[in-house]
Amino acid sequence: MQVFHHIDTLRAALAEVRRAGKRIGFVPTMGNLHDAHLELVRIAASECDVVVVSIFVNRLQFGLNEDWDKYPRTLEADTGKLRTVECDFLFCPEESEVYPNGMDNQTRVVCPTMTDVLCGASRPGHFEGVTTVVTKLFNIVQPDSAVFGIKDFQQLAVIRRMVEDLCMPVQIVAAPVHREGDGLAMSSRNGFITDEERPRVTVLYESLQLAKRQIEEGERDFARIEREAKARIEQAGFRVDYFSVRNSRTLQCAAHDDREITVLGAMFTSGARLIDNLSLELPAVAAS
Ligand code: PAF
Repeated sequence: MQVFHHIDTLRAALAEVRRAGKRIGFVPTMGNLHDAHLELVRIAASECDVVVVSIFVNRLQFGLNEDWDKYPRTLEADTGKLRTVECDFLFCPEESEVYPNGMDNQTRVVCPTMTDVLCGASRPGHFEGVTTVVTKLFNIVQPDSAVFGIKDFQQLAVIRRMVEDLCMPVQIVAAPVHREGDGLAMSSRNGFITDEERPRVTVLYESLQLAKRQIEEGERDFARIEREAKARIEQAGFRVDYFSVRNSRTLQCAAHDDREITVLGAMFTSGARLIDNLSLELPAVAAS
């Protein structure tokens, strides 16, 4: 695995790869890698000849009162983990390399309507930071395909829309949610869950499973499903950010006749904000 800190050297290496007619797969990350990230790399390797992973904790996507400074920087351990999978190039730039003109003057990429709901409602500016940095990383790496985890469902939907809207020649690949044995979705922020909270945080996934079952069994009072799930999460001792039944593509509130539905939830523990989701596809109703 070759490690790059600068755009020009990475570009030169990738130009050779491209000249050799090889497909480039890309996995953007913010580091603190766990098994779910390594799975993204394996998926990229199964689709492409050369895999690039980036590690960059992007301050532009953190709010002023968020955990940018607290976010774990574990580059040495991450590098070791990436050496165990098929990562060919690791790109870990300094902030001045990515934002040479500073962040206040940075040209931004904005994806409207899908970014001010759900996580975007409680994290204003977050998705603008994500779409801006992902655009920059796509321009640097110019991958044939890029892999994103379904755990960050809204991020995945926003990036798909951005790629479509801006005609970016990148195939977006969705990787399934990687879960612990009891169902907790793997996340770099799980390290902030206390031992005392740990057995109870599964309430989020359990509530999503119940909601999915209720919809599959014909329940269409989505407001009731959301109300009951919020009460269950609060009873388990956590503050709910949102629990919502949405159209999988547009992320708008699901209509009764929508067939592609995703239930998304976010809740606060004492030190972390956890998100998770489950999607379902309902069969077409035969015309009578
Ligand atoms: O999902 C993440 O880790 C980040 O949002 C991403 C896509 C690497 C952009 O900084």
